[in-house]
Formats: sequence, structure tokens, C-alpha cells
Amino acid sequence: MFITSVACFLLLVCDATEVLYVNTTAGVSTVLPCIMMLPATTDSKHLRFYWQDDRTYVLYSFNKGKEMHEHVHELYRDRIAAFSQDLTEGNISVKLENPTVEDDQRVFQAFGAVFDSRFPFELRQICQMTLHVAVPYKNISLTVNEETMTAVCATQRGFPKPLVKWTLHSQHLLDPQDVNTTVMQDPQEHLYSLTSTIVIPGGPDPSVTCFVHNPTLNVTLIATRILNNGEAETSCPSLAGALMVAAAAVLIY
Ligand SMILES: *[C@@H]1O[C@H](CO)[C@@H](O)[C@H](O)[C@H]1NC(C)=O
Ligand SMILES: *[C@@H]1O[C@H](CO)[C@@H](O)[C@H](O)[C@H]1NC(C)=O
Ligand SMILES: *[C@@H]1O[C@H](CO)[C@@H](O)[C@H](O)[C@H]1NC(C)=O
Ligand SMILES: *[C@@H]1O[C@H](CO)[C@@H](O)[C@H](O)[C@H]1NC(C)=O
Ligand SMILES: *[C@@H]1O[C@H](CO)[C@@H](O)[C@H](O)[C@H]1NC(C)=O
Repeated sequence: MFITSVACFLLLVCDATEVLYVNTTAGVSTVLPCIMMLPATTDSKHLRFYWQDDRTYVLYSFNKGKEMHEHVHELYRDRIAAFSQDLTEGNISVKLENPTVEDDQRVFQAFGAVFDSRFPFELRQICQMTLHVAVPYKNISLTVNEETMTAVCATQRGFPKPLVKWTLHSQHLLDPQDVNTTVMQDPQEHLYSLTSTIVIPGGPDPSVTCFVHNPTLNVTLIATRILNNGEAETSCPSLAGALMVAAAAVLIY
């Protein structure tokens, strides 16, 4: 602890925990977390920091105790909420409001420095993270044609591109080359829709299950059909996305 604080004192700022990416849902405000180690008695008047994206558009700028609105790019002007957190504790996190799929894969960086007459003034990168924005796939449909022995799984209007997986008889994983999957992207809204078709091989007690996974939200929708077997058809679409998370802000330390 002592050694840490000495190191921070000499360097004025030093690296803290590192967040590599932030995952969120479109429309749900998210914190871009960043902690800057400061000498114990830093006044926010001696603090300078700013956030920028990978196009060097400024999201937020703070200099000598004041927010510098004029430096903020218009794309971010009404979308960054600064916190009333105690900046002297080095919490230079900002909140991005209303993220959209257009913000997906943006890389954000925070730079900061402390003014101190004893040391040369130098802005250093404090944090860097990639934002992943998702739109949840809300439902999944699985239809089976027992005459042609084909099954079609479909889902619409989510983001990013979904990953599809099939199982037969609850466990046998289908070979990707037996699966014909088409993914279309809406050019305006960037949302994806998926249709995946398989030919069902025969077998005892046949059931077919389709899994659609949203990698950013880490949510999987599941639908299962039990085949007829000469008896009355039963079908049970199950939405295992029961743990549908509206917003998954995930910080990896
Ligand atoms: C930094 O401030 C934000 C906003 O108040 C808060 O959500 C976050 O938990 C704070 N982080 C730490 C490490 O205190
Ligand atoms: C998804 O759900 C909506 C409303 O619940 C319904 O109108 C739509 O038909 C469903 N789509 C599929 C593919 O099941
Ligand atoms: C895959 O499906 C698409 C449309 O669903 C169809 O046009 C295409 O011919 C199929 N490809 C194969 C190899 O079955
Ligand atoms: C966050 O999203 C990225 C991109 O889709 C994904 O690779 C990563 O696994 C996600 N993280 C978590 C914890 O779900
Ligand atoms: C996704 O969720 C599963 C459990 O639901 C968990 O085991 C796995 O670690 C998660 N993946 C990521 C990348 O967080």
C-alpha cells in the first residue's frame, strides 16, 4: 500500500484496474468506468482529463475544476452525463446515454494529468475500452415439416449477428455442414434476422432443438420440437431466454 502510493506520487498518475470492454443494450445508459490514481491531496482544480473515441471525437473534457463543453463533439454533446462523483478520489468515469448499434465496437480512451509545479505536465492514457452494444433477439420460432423432415428456426431484429446451434435427440450436435443458415442485415437499422434450416435424420424418440445466441448479451434463446412418431404432435417452444437480461453491463477486470 505504501509502495503503491509512493509510486503514484512520483508518477502523479498510475494505472488502476483495467476494464477491457463494456457490453450494454441499445437505449440503456452505461457507465464507462475509469479510475485515475491521484496523490492524496489533489484538488480538482489541479486535474485535467478528457475522454475521446477512436475517431478522436471528444466525449467529455474537464480542466482545472471546470467542464469544457466547447471541446465536446456534437455526436456526444447531449449523451454524456458527467457524474457528481468526487473527482478528487480519481473516479473519472462518465455515463454514455442512449447507446445505439452505431456505437458498437467504438473504442473509448480517457487521458488525464495533474498540474503540479514539481513535475512536468504530461497527459497520460488512463483507460481504454471497447463498447459492445446489443439489441436482444426477443423470440425464436421453430417449425418442423414432418413430410420433408426439415426444421426451420428463425429469429428477427437483433444485434449483433446471432450464433445458431442445433441439437437432435437432446444431445447430438449437428454438423455445421448439415445446416443451412441465412443471416440478413437491415441496411438502415443494422439489425439481423436469421433463418436456419436442417434436414432431420430419423431416429428413436426424435426431438430437435435450436439455440440462438447473442454473444454480447450472453443470452441464448432455445426452442424444442418433439416429432410426431405417429402419435399426436406435441410441441413445446421453450424460451430459455427466461434469463433475458435487459441490460448486461459487463466489466472485465
Ligand atoms: C465511479 O463513479 C460512478 C458514478 O458515480 C460509480 O457508478 C462507480 O461505482 C464509481 N467507481 C468507483 C470505483 O467508485
Ligand atoms: C415474436 O413475438 C411477437 C409478439 O410477441 C409476434 O408478433 C411475432 O409473430 C413473434 N415472431 C416469431 C417469429 O415468433
Ligand atoms: C439455403 O437456404 C437458402 C434460403 O433459405 C436457399 O436459397 C439455398 O439454396 C440453400 N442452400 C443450400 C445449400 O441448401
Ligand atoms: C461482450 O461482448 C463481446 C462481443 O460480442 C463478447 O465477445 C463478450 O463475450 C461479451 N462479454 C460477456 C461477458 O458477455
Ligand atoms: C455466459 O453465461 C454462462 C452462463 O449463463 C457463463 O457460464 C459464461 O461464462 C458466460 N460467458 C461470458 C463470456 O461471460
